[in-house]
Amino acid sequence: MNEHFQPVALEHASRLINHGPTVLVTSADGGRRNVMAAAWSMPVEFTPPRVAVVIDKRTCTRELVMASGAFGLCLPGAALVDLTYAVGSASGRDIDKFARHGIVAKAGPVFGVPLIESGCAAWLECRLIREPHTEDAYDTCFAEVVAAAADARIFANGHWLFRGDNLGLQTIHHLGGGNFVHAGGVLRAQPL
Ligand SMILES: Cc1cc2nc3c(=O)[nH]c(=O)nc-3n(C[C@H](O)[C@H](O)[C@H](O)COP(=O)(O)O)c2cc1C
Repeated sequence: MNEHFQPVALEHASRLINHGPTVLVTSADGGRRNVMAAAWSMPVEFTPPRVAVVIDKRTCTRELVMASGAFGLCLPGAALVDLTYAVGSASGRDIDKFARHGIVAKAGPVFGVPLIESGCAAWLECRLIREPHTEDAYDTCFAEVVAAAADARIFANGHWLFRGDNLGLQTIHHLGGGNFVHAGGVLRAQPL
């Protein structure tokens, strides 16, 4: 348990991924657990908060998500860039990525989904919305956010706090080929 993590009101959950961070999709079914990187996720509905994330049908993650009906979206901070790339470059069918990389997870409050706090800025626990007519055709999965929490050093009172003193927790954004940018400087729009 990370002492800095605080619950995020569900009405603010969309702000956690509004800016397009690379996420770690966590999943478990029976005795199996897994984690993969995903650059493609976004909020899609306000109330209840719903998200979309692309989870390739060929992945181990997809298999566990379809079996369990739940998953986590954990937002790695910049300090986890190597880990993020590593878990996006190997399959849980071949290795237990938690054991291989020494990843510590806690059980999500609603479904017990493995959630990573150490080195992460936030997490969302999600219930898969089953789409029987399309799920064989598309990699996109829709889900309802049922719980969320964030490290108060970088997200508090429903807002991101990107500052010079929290670079290691700033979300990362994939440019392709293992190149990322972190969230960087905030530009505050002024009235014209
Ligand atoms: C930075 C990064 C971003 C990725 N984004 C996605 C994505 O949005 N959707 C997806 O299906 N796979 C994505 N991948 C690929 C999966 O993470 C990769 O196929 C992974 O090995 C699947 O693991 P699994 O079989 O254990 O589930 C990404 C990989 C990296 C490194």
